[in-house]
Amino acid sequence: MSSKDSKPAETTAVGAPVEEATPPAPAASLPLEAATTAAEAPAVSAPLEAATTTTAPIPPAIPEGDAGGVNDEPESEFGDDFESTASLTDSIRDFRNLHGRTYGNSHSTEYWAPNDNQQAGGLDITHHYLLLYHDNKLFQAPISDDVQKVLDVGTGTGIWAIDFADQYPSAHVIGTDISPIQPPWVPPNCEFVVDDAQLDWTWPENHFDYIHLRDLYGGISDWGALYKRAYAHLKPGGWFEDQEFDIRCHSDVVGHDPDHIYNRWNDIFAESGERLGKTLKIGRDSRMRDYMAEAGFVNCTERKFRLPINGWCRDKKLKEIGMFVHMFVDQSLEGFALFLLTKIMGWKYEECQVLVAQMRAAVKDTRLQPYYEVTLVYGQKPESSSTA
Ligand SMILES: C[S@@+](CC[C@H](N)C(=O)[O-])C[C@H]1O[C@@H](n2cnc3c(N)ncnc32)[C@H](O)[C@@H]1O
Repeated sequence: MSSKDSKPAETTAVGAPVEEATPPAPAASLPLEAATTAAEAPAVSAPLEAATTTTAPIPPAIPEGDAGGVNDEPESEFGDDFESTASLTDSIRDFRNLHGRTYGNSHSTEYWAPNDNQQAGGLDITHHYLLLYHDNKLFQAPISDDVQKVLDVGTGTGIWAIDFADQYPSAHVIGTDISPIQPPWVPPNCEFVVDDAQLDWTWPENHFDYIHLRDLYGGISDWGALYKRAYAHLKPGGWFEDQEFDIRCHSDVVGHDPDHIYNRWNDIFAESGERLGKTLKIGRDSRMRDYMAEAGFVNCTERKFRLPINGWCRDKKLKEIGMFVHMFVDQSLEGFALFLLTKIMGWKYEECQVLVAQMRAAVKDTRLQPYYEVTLVYGQKPESSSTA
């Protein structure tokens, strides 16, 4: 993608719609097709994007306050006190084991998802369907073609950073993560650093041209502080972008039935993130754009869109995306649940596996037309600013 393809900053200025033709976003509970029922299980012809993509200006001020099979692995190395790493070695590669899944060993932060090959595979599938959704664009912010210093915070397998470095040979791309799960062979203009984004950053302020975050939900205790840190380390005129999943599984067929597995799953996870102190709700409402405004970003844009889970859409592109989303969900559900349910919510391992099995069965049901909601924001550090 080049800056010519990108939307110029003026079109994303506060108060100005970015896409003239974009219809207003329906409320989350609005059915995609009013006549849809589970019994009829029709394929929906209206593309989700047209129905749900939206842009919204950043408000000028912030309101105050604001199934895996049976596993008989030995007892987890996680203690009852999940904060404790006392029995672990100092090596960041000495991953911890929980019922056969491995978790990172950061001494400064506790992260809820595994870092093993199964979960990493899910990250790479996610990268693929997000690229499909965004027509192969790695980012939405209108950065220039000669972008130089780029930071990808919470890079995971590093797949985004590697792709970006390949597309922009003039750029130097740094990917950071608390877990060293990135490949050793990378483009010469790409490097990976083990770093906790919640601690003070070692790079100079006013340094990066572009800072990118994707899917750090559940990894951050203070999002406002993180956005402010990104602002401080961007050059004046530099761009920031964050894309976050709302991990709730939505279905207009299921609705708000509290006993349905979708809603039980959603409620349990929302609560577990709050108990962990690292919300999984960052993508909800206007939180991300509020944090951007609070940090001082200008020319901000927010887009919300829906991704189908499984192949229930009639639209060819969305159907393909949905099938990849389902692949991701199917292989990630157990990893999502294990730590949060057994260590944070106090469930037995067997109870956790039953819930995962129920959810796994339910997300493949095309009649339920499940979908996720995703929020993407980007904004610019003012040209006139010098530091935070
Ligand atoms: C869901 S993955 C997303 C990975 C990558 N951004 C992508 O989109 O493919 C979240 C990643 O954030 C990392 N992470 C979580 N908390 C972090 C923190 N405080 N600092 C740095 N990385 C963190 C995790 O280790 C994990 O690799």
